[in-house]
Amino acid sequence: MTASPTAERPSLRSQRLNQITHAPHARLDALVKAHAPFDTQANFARFVVAQYLFQSELVALYNDAELIDIIPDLAERCRADAARLDLSDLDTEVPAPFEGAVQNPSRAEALGWLFVSEGSKLGAAFLIKRAVGLGLSETFGARHLGEPAGGRAEGWKRFTRTLDALEFSAEEEAAVEKGAIDAFVRFTVLLEQAYASAPELA
Ligand code: HEM
Repeated sequence: MTASPTAERPSLRSQRLNQITHAPHARLDALVKAHAPFDTQANFARFVVAQYLFQSELVALYNDAELIDIIPDLAERCRADAARLDLSDLDTEVPAPFEGAVQNPSRAEALGWLFVSEGSKLGAAFLIKRAVGLGLSETFGARHLGEPAGGRAEGWKRFTRTLDALEFSAEEEAAVEKGAIDAFVRFTVLLEQAYASAPELA
C-alpha cells in the first residue's frame, strides 16, 4: 500500500493553490493588519489605493477573450471600477500606475493571478464588516469589498469548479502556481507602496 497522494498534495488544483498560498496569505493578512486599516478612514484609504492598483493591473486579464471563454462572467467580476469609486468617496486621488505590473501572462499563469484576486473576495466578507465601523459600506467607500452578484461563496465555487476542471500540462500546472504566488508578492509590494506614499500614516 502506498500513502494516499492527497495526504501531501491535494488532488484538486484549487486545493493545491490554497495550500501553496497559505503562508503568503498569512503574511499578507498580518501586514494588512499591521497598517491598521480600520483605525481611521485615512488608513483605510491607503488600503483601497493598494486594492485599486492591484485590480487595475488585472483589468486586461478580466477582459481577455480567451479567459472569458473559460469563465463567461469574468469581466463582471473585475473590481477596478468599484475600487476607483471608493477612492473618490474617500477623497483620495487615483494613484499613478506602479512599475512591475504583470504583463501578458500565459493562460495558466493568468488563472493563478485571478485565483488570488477572486479568493480575496472571501476575506473581504470580514473586512467590510470592519469598514462599516468607519461609516463605509458596499455603496460608499468600500464598494470593492461588497458581496458580488449571486453571492460570495457561489461565485467562488463556480470559479474553482471551472479552474479544477481544466486539463493542464505539467508546465501549465507550474504556471498557475507561479501566477498565484506572484500575485501575493505583487499585492504585498503595492500595499507597501500605498502606505509609503502617505508618509504621515502608520
Ligand atoms: C490579494 C489577495 C488577498 C488579500 C489582500 C487578502 C486579505 C485577507 C485579510 C486581511 C483577511 C483577514 C480578515 C479578517 O480577519 O478580518 C483575509 C481572510 C481570508 N481570506 Fe484572504 N486575502 C487575499 C487572498 C485570498 C485568497 C486567494 C483566498 C482563498 C483562496 C482567501 C481566503 C480568505 C478567507 C477564507 C479568509 C477568512 C478566514 C481566514 O483567515 O481563513 N484570501 N484575507
